[in-house]
Amino acid sequence: MCGIVGYLGLKEAYPILINGLRRLEYRGYDSAGVALINGGINLYKTKGKVSELEAFVVDKNTKGTVGIAHTRWATHGEPNEINAHPHFSESEKLALIHNGIIENYNVIKEKLIKSGVKFTSHTDTEVLIQFIEFIQKAEKVDLVKATQLALSQVVGAYAIVIVSRDEPDMMIAARNGSPLVIGIGKDEFHIASDASPIIEYTRDVVYLDDEEIAIIKRNEKLQIKTLKDQQKTPFVEKLELDLCALEKEGYEHFMLKEIFEQPKSIRDSIRGRLNIERDTIAMAGIIDFEQRFLNARRIIFTAAGTSWHAALVGEYLIEELARISVEVEYASEFRYRNPIIDERDVVIAISQSGETADTLAAMRLAKSKGALIYSICNVVGSSIARLSDAGSFTHAGPEIGVASTKAFTAQVTVLTLIALLLAQKKGTISKSKFNQLINELDTIPSKVEETLKVSEQVREMAKIFTYTRNFLYLGRGYNFPVALEGALKLKEISYIHAEGYPAAEMKHGPIALIDKKMPVVVIAPVSGIYDKVVSNIQEIKARKGKVIAIVSKGDKIVSALSDYVIEIPHTDEVLSPLLSVIPLQLLSYYIAVMRDCEIDQPRNLAKSVTVE
Ligand code: AGP
Ligand code: GLU
Repeated sequence: MCGIVGYLGLKEAYPILINGLRRLEYRGYDSAGVALINGGINLYKTKGKVSELEAFVVDKNTKGTVGIAHTRWATHGEPNEINAHPHFSESEKLALIHNGIIENYNVIKEKLIKSGVKFTSHTDTEVLIQFIEFIQKAEKVDLVKATQLALSQVVGAYAIVIVSRDEPDMMIAARNGSPLVIGIGKDEFHIASDASPIIEYTRDVVYLDDEEIAIIKRNEKLQIKTLKDQQKTPFVEKLELDLCALEKEGYEHFMLKEIFEQPKSIRDSIRGRLNIERDTIAMAGIIDFEQRFLNARRIIFTAAGTSWHAALVGEYLIEELARISVEVEYASEFRYRNPIIDERDVVIAISQSGETADTLAAMRLAKSKGALIYSICNVVGSSIARLSDAGSFTHAGPEIGVASTKAFTAQVTVLTLIALLLAQKKGTISKSKFNQLINELDTIPSKVEETLKVSEQVREMAKIFTYTRNFLYLGRGYNFPVALEGALKLKEISYIHAEGYPAAEMKHGPIALIDKKMPVVVIAPVSGIYDKVVSNIQEIKARKGKVIAIVSKGDKIVSALSDYVIEIPHTDEVLSPLLSVIPLQLLSYYIAVMRDCEIDQPRNLAKSVTVE
């Protein structure tokens, strides 16, 4: 995680860097820091958020047209001021910011200590800048060469930017496994972990590849070399990102804005793909590899967190509609358990950020075994999108709130399209069912809009449950993953313990938790297993649990049994997660608001988890 920003140009660097940090703060907010070149290097850092850095820097010298800045999500060393980035080399001639983990930092650190190098922090990052300076002196090489040599001995993931007191008109950046974008403006260069800090200055960007080093010098063209010193031609791409999408636009929090954007983000994810008149679905990525998909021994989804929940919905969709065997794997487990996989398999990675380290590693593993790698990703140009053989973007737009909302529904939308397309190609769905489902899918954006009208009701309900300490979420079939997602949302932003379960599993254990203090959210829209869910609710009521039910409009049976009822519009069971998840997102949001929690930046979390 961590957000990194760099600037070299004619303008004052400090305001640009702070602005950039604010945009990247979703990536981590344990500490923030900045280093500005102005004769020497002025380095300021503080524990906590970017606003604390700004307050600390208020009376300091922030002059300079070259600088780097960082917002941290600590992996090695406490989140305090000393461990905050940028880190100096021992001579204080070099300063570095880093996103990632240097796995062999200990071995290098021991060697350096033996050679007399003194360390000030507990981070893996400081080892890297000390190592570079050590090589520079020992081998008598320039900074670029020293960086190449150091990075060749480093194991782990990094995106780094270095500035040097002795070469004030230069920045060096490098990456391996962590994201890095370089913006090329008029007489200026920007560097950042993603494009959001760059967009207001330039749309021309270069995405650095693994094991590449960028050498950025004033009045010179951008130079890219590999660690082995091979020259590369920078590939300049045009950014297509809407600046408004990065603002709160009147909403109190990004999360609320993103929840309310779902009619649009789902519509955008369908647009251009679904043709109702012709009964067709166009998805170039799938069509390009049609035979691989249709003959696949199985499809394996790999993802983390909310994206993993979307994958579970994908499993239900693809198995039911396209009759292809599906497995869903936590990327973090998959990558280390030597899975049986070969060229007959299709691996679909799902990721909002496109930078999740575990998901990337799982993809690399599957690729090395010959599987087709497909991705469903929200960020264009991200590492996951680039690593895959083909893919479909979710068109959710930038998601800033750490708790994922609109990305989930966009992922489920794309998965529905894929399942329907494969089913049509395979002939596993009747023409009439296909027609019915595509027509229904087309109405989902307006039904989401209708669902959002429960917002006030949910806000009132949140007042009742503000101080509740535990929650249970239950769902069956397509709504089992929604139960997991509802529970995750509540944990993430309200810090309330919550568990999601398949409703029928309750009797195998969690039922022991139920008493009159335990609220149980039951997701029970009309479905083939509605009666079974009714029985599960009876079991809860018999033990005096409080039931909050999510039901289809006009529901009688579940509503009569439940203490609180939230109605959602009718839809086919297959599409119901797209509606049933909305009240759960709102419930977690409003409870977090009542509890005065940090909605968009919950404690200990970061938006994109680029470390293991
Ligand atoms: C969702 O609310 C979480 N913040 C988290 O679980 C997230 O979904 C997970 O880290 C995966 O991220 P990705 O979709 O960007 O790969
Ligand atoms: N490993 C570095 C640190 O702990 C960077 C962490 C990160 O990128 O999240 O400071």
